[in-house]
Amino acid sequence: MRPLEETEAVLRSLRGVWDEEAVDELDHALQAAACAMADGADDELVLAAALHDVAHSPLLGASSAHDEEARRWLRPRFGDRVAWLAGAHVAAKQYLVATEPGYAAGLSETSVRSLAAQGGAHVDEGFTGHEWWPDAVRLRRYDDAAKDPEAPGATIAEVLDVAERVLAGRA
Ligand SMILES: [Fe+2]
Repeated sequence: MRPLEETEAVLRSLRGVWDEEAVDELDHALQAAACAMADGADDELVLAAALHDVAHSPLLGASSAHDEEARRWLRPRFGDRVAWLAGAHVAAKQYLVATEPGYAAGLSETSVRSLAAQGGAHVDEGFTGHEWWPDAVRLRRYDDAAKDPEAPGATIAEVLDVAERVLAGRA
């Protein structure tokens, strides 16, 4: 399968996969993409937002941490930046909990529960020392906002258009 077809397949496979309380993983992905688009994010950031939880797809059979799995799946298909941004969404949460008063209070129950298992709040110098970290913080805010059953989402077709442009940029 080619990357676009694989992306469509993994997105569709997220329908009915529940990690969050309020939305399934497909709606979560499409809402995160819509938030990124509404924020004027560039295509790579939109795509990373759409696919940051790709490791929850049953097609991946992920065995290790879902941020690492996302990075591993995305890098060969969409390049270093998409992969890094998606893979940094846990580090971005840890950073925001550690540095932004009130941030933790707005997290979903799932995010609060997973925080401890992920190592708790802290500022990782490998994160804040990275050139793309401000965009990872933006992605984290799209992630957090994409857990509302009433929120609008992008369509799968819109995400695939973005993916196609990212692929064209790499060619
Ligand atoms: Fe997420």
